Amino acid sequence: MASKAIVLITGGNSGVGFGLASELLTRGTYHVLLGSRSSEKGRKAVEDLRARHQPHSEAVEMLQIDVTDDNSIEKAAETVQRNHGKVDVIINNAGISAMDLPLRQAMREAFDVNAAGPAAVVKAFAPLLQKSTMTSPPPRIINVSSGAGSISRCLDPTSPLYGMLGYQYRSTKAALNMVTACHWVEYGPKIKVFAFDPGFTISNLSSHNKAENGARSAEESAGSLVDVIEGKRDDEAGMFLHNTGRYPW
Ligand SMILES: NC(=O)c1ccc[n+]([C@@H]2O[C@H](COP(=O)([O-])OP(=O)(O)OC[C@H]3O[C@@H](n4cnc5c(N)ncnc54)[C@H](OP(=O)(O)O)[C@@H]3O)[C@@H](O)[C@H]2O)c1
Repeated sequence: MASKAIVLITGGNSGVGFGLASELLTRGTYHVLLGSRSSEKGRKAVEDLRARHQPHSEAVEMLQIDVTDDNSIEKAAETVQRNHGKVDVIINNAGISAMDLPLRQAMREAFDVNAAGPAAVVKAFAPLLQKSTMTSPPPRIINVSSGAGSISRCLDPTSPLYGMLGYQYRSTKAALNMVTACHWVEYGPKIKVFAFDPGFTISNLSSHNKAENGARSAEESAGSLVDVIEGKRDDEAGMFLHNTGRYPW
């Protein structure tokens, strides 16, 4: 039997990350490293997934990782090196909206998690990604961005996001898009790199992320992310994707 692809998901204990872990376990061909900054929340999430996916219960493990803490990132990379010797897919999913904070604090905290975090995670895990022997599909980095981070959409009066504020979220996702472009230049095309917007999803991101406001389930949003993991959109590597198409940077 072919060995399972090893997938790191940061912020995997809730929302989109948790939904993605669940979808991957359903398939039976992935080993999920469920990243969580809180070991307690991470352990609970893993228990929940193991109960839901009995036949594949060994295919998920908790990895403590706080993307704002370089020691935590280094320790996580050492653990993966020791236990698996490689990683095949990095999903930089951890993110915050930093709403309801004073502007400067919101900007700093959001930048640290949403942009500096993914850059630091990839720097620490790149040697493990380069040890991936996967060829079909090849190894990949997926940075979970948002259409709210598209500068072109922000300036387009016909966009539904025109006039939407949230400086800290929009600007840090725009910064993440630039991190993604840099990742593609540095690691592509051998490693496929994407920015991906999962769409409006039920999660803990903000009080607005609820079904009654039109948000869809995390499992549904994760489905289109699985397509990117499985190589179905590799002809769009180096681009900013959403579930049905692409956004302009
Ligand atoms: N939901 C949407 O509509 C939507 C739309 C577009 C893009 N996105 C993006 O999707 C990603 C996932 O968000 P979500 O909607 O699923 O929200 P969520 O339920 O709040 O999940 C965010 C995850 O990130 C984790 N996290 C926050 N700070 C962290 C840190 N310093 N280190 C490690 N993990 C950290 C959270 O951990 P804790 O549980 O400990 O807080 C949580 O596990 C984000 O990047 C978000 O911007 C979401």
